[in-house]
Amino acid sequence: MPVRIAPSILSADFARLGDEIAMCEAGGADWIHVDVMDGRFVPNLTFGAKVIETVRKLTDLPIDVHLMVVEPENYFESFAKAGATGMTIHTEVAPHLDRQIARIKELGCLAGAVVNPATPLSAVEEVVGQLDLLLIMSVNPGFGGQSFIPNAIDRLRRARRMIDGAGGGAALEVDGGINRATIADCWRAGADTFVAGNAIFSAPDPAAEIGALRALCRQTA
Ligand code: DX5
Ligand code: ZN
Repeated sequence: MPVRIAPSILSADFARLGDEIAMCEAGGADWIHVDVMDGRFVPNLTFGAKVIETVRKLTDLPIDVHLMVVEPENYFESFAKAGATGMTIHTEVAPHLDRQIARIKELGCLAGAVVNPATPLSAVEEVVGQLDLLLIMSVNPGFGGQSFIPNAIDRLRRARRMIDGAGGGAALEVDGGINRATIADCWRAGADTFVAGNAIFSAPDPAAEIGALRALCRQTA
């Protein structure tokens, strides 16, 4: 199974965004994770199409856009145009998940669904075969630098069974509190894609940290 490391630029220094993205590339990052927050679905406000467009100019790496917004469909077109590779929407605000997933794909992007720590996995059961990406939150979304919620491990195990059982090829991503202490357990539970913000950008050597996180998965393979 591949190990994908997706640095979250939420924790980057935006005055030096070009250098921060270059550092991610130098460290071997697989995807760049962009956290879009609207101050409604989550109690924090971040960025939109303009920043996605900027990141697109700075790198050829896939851009993994995590939409923590209500009515995410309002942004699909502009984010696809801005250069998003994939868009992941929260089941808690996606009453028409089937249609929304189809629309993201129609725009030529990878389509993902996200579940918060308290959302039953059954929320994605009926569409899991259509997903390119299933994201299990291991913190309550809204802020970087929070502590990993341990119930994510069992949720990842069940999500892995659900993906395999549906015969689907969805990537299984985990987001929140991923660091040297938590990543290997997530990998063993079936995750293959790891978002990390604080752990990478606050490390003494951020580029090396990407490799260190990856190595912890490989060691336990
Ligand atoms: C949280 C975001 C995460 C966040 C992760 O709402 O979805 O992507 O940036 O940050 P860390 O790795 O610091 O927990
Ligand atoms: Zn995120």
